[in-house]
Amino acid sequence: MVLTLILHIARVYLTGGFKKPRELIWITGVLLSIAVVSFGVTGYSLPWDKIGYWASKIVTAVPQAFDELIPGIGSLVVGLLRGGPSVSQFTLTRFYSIHTFVLPLVLFPLILVHFSIIRKQGISGPL
Ligand code: HEM
Repeated sequence: MVLTLILHIARVYLTGGFKKPRELIWITGVLLSIAVVSFGVTGYSLPWDKIGYWASKIVTAVPQAFDELIPGIGSLVVGLLRGGPSVSQFTLTRFYSIHTFVLPLVLFPLILVHFSIIRKQGISGPL
């Protein structure tokens, strides 16, 4: 999926398919790629083996850096992601719900918008 996404972005970029009036398609695309990567990150932890556990520990610690900008904000995001101060059963439940419920709910409307604008504007060149 990620490889296909990279190929798609490369195709759109190299053929200039993102140029006016298709900026909004590109922006929905950026949101779509964030959603796709989030599927990967949340899904990786689900086997709940050592790799998944340590990966979620590292990934959920990243927002901690925001504490350097606004004290407290990074720790708040880390706590929200983990469902507590450390990676636990709550983190797994959160990642599972995000992976199976929240992300599909975000992805499908985004794809619908992506496609609707493409249908309205037409593709920039022959497929
Ligand atoms: C789940 C992810 C995505 C799906 C299912 C998807 C699907 C599609 C499809 C079917 C088309 C029309 C055919 C084509 O041009 O290949 C298209 C066009 C387009 N996509 Fe995506 N896309 C996704 C992600 C992205 C991303 C990440 C970007 C850029 C950041 C992007 C930007 C665009 C643009 C600008 C067009 C119009 C191209 C043109 O008119 O030449 N899409 N997309």
